[in-house]
Amino acid sequence: MKKLNVLKEGKAKRFYETDDPDLYWVEYLNQATALNGKRKEAIAEKGLLNNKMDSLIFNYLKANGIATHFVKQLSDSEQLVQAVTMIPLEVVVRNAASGSFQRKFKQAYLAPLDPPVVEFFYKSDALDDPFMNAEQAAALKVVTLAESQTIEQFALKINQLLIQRFTAADLQLVDFKVEFGKTKAGQLVLADEISPDSCRLVDMTTKNSLDKDVFRKHTGDLTTVYHEVLQRLENSEVAH
Ligand code: C5P
Repeated sequence: MKKLNVLKEGKAKRFYETDDPDLYWVEYLNQATALNGKRKEAIAEKGLLNNKMDSLIFNYLKANGIATHFVKQLSDSEQLVQAVTMIPLEVVVRNAASGSFQRKFKQAYLAPLDPPVVEFFYKSDALDDPFMNAEQAAALKVVTLAESQTIEQFALKINQLLIQRFTAADLQLVDFKVEFGKTKAGQLVLADEISPDSCRLVDMTTKNSLDKDVFRKHTGDLTTVYHEVLQRLENSEVAH
């Protein structure tokens, strides 16, 4: 497998073409952003930490029957993924109130949400990722109504599996964001990244934040916190 030209660069990752047109080489960068990319900082070891956590989580989800873009971890900060066409939707699942949900509905921090709440946001930096319901997504040709139902069920299944995995690491999964893509064969697969960049995690007992909120709110050192999450994940497992 050969790494060829840079195909695109996101906020925290760089994608390269390979000599196989169906595979992309991904390099995780030592960079963190907030406010939809308006704030950007270099963070030591971040690429390695995110790549290791994402690879561990995607291997777990794959082993539990979730179709994903993930092929394999290549090195500390690189991985191989299937080439997919991304669907411009951010799919958020919430198990407890925090962030924009807490602000919007004036809920107490970490108030349990039963059933879990699934929300779609249209992925557009220019529009600041607005909330979008299934009919809006269908009318704007982002996904069909049937696809949005499939995506919602897919996201809820991923939620169940992630809750199990993070609980084993003594972490409460408050909420998270996932994105989906379509392979050349038209299969809908989980794509992008799952890490503390895109999940809210709190210690099961102390309820201390162990995710990117420490960077967003300037309340802690991101590298220290991500090391803690990686260590907890590496030292735990879920029987299946
Ligand atoms: O800010 P909000 O409460 O809507 O975020 C919900 C979840 O989605 C959080 O876990 C956050 O980390 C994630 N998210 C993300 N990327 C965005 C917006 C939210 O990963 N652009």
